[in-house]
Amino acid sequence: MSDMTETADETVDEDKRDFIHIASGMMALGGAGAVAWMFVDQMNPATDTQAASSLEVDISKVAEGGEIRVLIGGKPFFIRHRTAPEILAAQTGDISKLPDPEEDTDRLRALPDGSFNPAILVTSGSCTHLGCVPVGPGNNTGDYGGWYCPCHGSHYDTSGRIRKGPAPKNLPVPDYEYVSASVIRISL
Ligand code: FES
Repeated sequence: MSDMTETADETVDEDKRDFIHIASGMMALGGAGAVAWMFVDQMNPATDTQAASSLEVDISKVAEGGEIRVLIGGKPFFIRHRTAPEILAAQTGDISKLPDPEEDTDRLRALPDGSFNPAILVTSGSCTHLGCVPVGPGNNTGDYGGWYCPCHGSHYDTSGRIRKGPAPKNLPVPDYEYVSASVIRISL
C-alpha cells in the first residue's frame, strides 16, 4: 500500500463549482440529500509528482442522508451515510434476479472491532456502463432511491447495485478499510 495518503477536510461551499481543494482538517455537511465533492489537491507539494493513491475520510462528518464525493488519482468515489429506510431497502428483497446479484452485507467492510456499520456505504463513483458519474442522493436519484446515471439512464439502488438501464455491474466497492470507528482509508 502506498504511503501517499491525504486527509479529507474542508467545508464545501455549495455555490462553488465541483473542484474544492482539500489538505487537512475536518469537514461538515448538511442534512438529507447533501452532497459534497472533494479531491486531493494536485498542486500540493507532496503530490505534485505523484497523485495520492489513498485518502482518509472522517465519516462522522457525513450527515445521515448525505454523501461525500472524493477524487483519488482522478477516480471518483462515494461515501454515503444511509438512512434507516435506505438500509432496509438495501437489505431486503430477492436479489437473485438482479443483473449483478450481491448481498448488501457483502458490500460493507468491518470496523476495527469486527462489527459492521450498515449506515456507511462506500462505492466507486463511476457508472459501470461508460464511466459517467451518477447523481444522488436526494432528488433525481432514479427509480430505486440510490443513484441515477443520466448519461444513458442506469438506475442503482441504495446499495449501489444496478437495477435498470445499460450498466452491466454494480458500482464497485473500492479497496478501503476502517482506520478507526470514524475514519476510513480508501486506496487505489
Ligand atoms: S455511462 Fe452511465 S448509463 Fe451510460
